[in-house]
Amino acid sequence: MLFSKPLPPKGSRLRQLIMDARLKPAHDGSQMSLAIRPATPADVPAITRIYAHAVETGTASFELTPPDEAEMAQRMESLLAKDFPYLAAEADGTVTGYAYAGPYRARPAYRFTVEDSVYVAPDQQGRGVGRALLAALVEASATRGFRQMIAVIGDSEQAASIAVHAAAGFYYVGTFPHVGYKFGRWLDTVLMQRALGPGSTTAP
Ligand SMILES: CC(C)(COP(=O)(O)OP(=O)(O)OC[C@H]1O[C@@H](n2cnc3c(N)ncnc32)[C@H](O)[C@@H]1OP(=O)(O)O)[C@@H](O)C(=O)NCCC(=O)NCCS
Repeated sequence: MLFSKPLPPKGSRLRQLIMDARLKPAHDGSQMSLAIRPATPADVPAITRIYAHAVETGTASFELTPPDEAEMAQRMESLLAKDFPYLAAEADGTVTGYAYAGPYRARPAYRFTVEDSVYVAPDQQGRGVGRALLAALVEASATRGFRQMIAVIGDSEQAASIAVHAAAGFYYVGTFPHVGYKFGRWLDTVLMQRALGPGSTTAP
């Protein structure tokens, strides 16, 4: 089923990345005491720091200036008020990452489709935190009745993000070339998607 979905062009780096991620065995998180739990306003300072680093140093986010704690708190509150899932990863009492699902687009016919975001603290990346967060986010979104999840990945060079989504069952939909500009270069967005729960096999 997964492999009948479209893939990036043969011979492309993107295709290899997605195939490799699908074939790798999963981390089981056993090397650390990782808990995935609903995020709360108390997590905002840590979340703000994690996101600020991603905005300032990377191309996953197309924001250019990191939002402050008040803005991040407001964003969290507006998602939670509409019952979108917002999760934190905690290891040994420290927030090591977070993920949330929000509306994909505002028009009401899109209401069963969400877009995900996942960020892991720089010193915790590559240890299975992103994978665990995304798996939990998929489940929490399906439980709430959402039917499709979309990843809009900033930059086709974003190997970790593309791989973590492929590992979580997302398939490649396409690439919008050159739609962003950051750090002096044009950036693509890579679109990936997966069904949630029964997906489109039943009416919502
Ligand atoms: C993308 C991100 C969330 C991934 O989280 P992570 O905790 O580093 O990833 P994981 O350790 O859970 O890796 C999951 C899978 O992705 C793959 N992967 C992770 N990092 C990779 C890399 N740099 N290159 C290639 N594959 C990679 C592996 O296949 C891994 O599978 P495995 O569990 O079998 O080893 C994290 O790196 C991050 O926050 N990056 C900066 C912000 C960002 O890009 N966010 C995404 C916005 S949509």
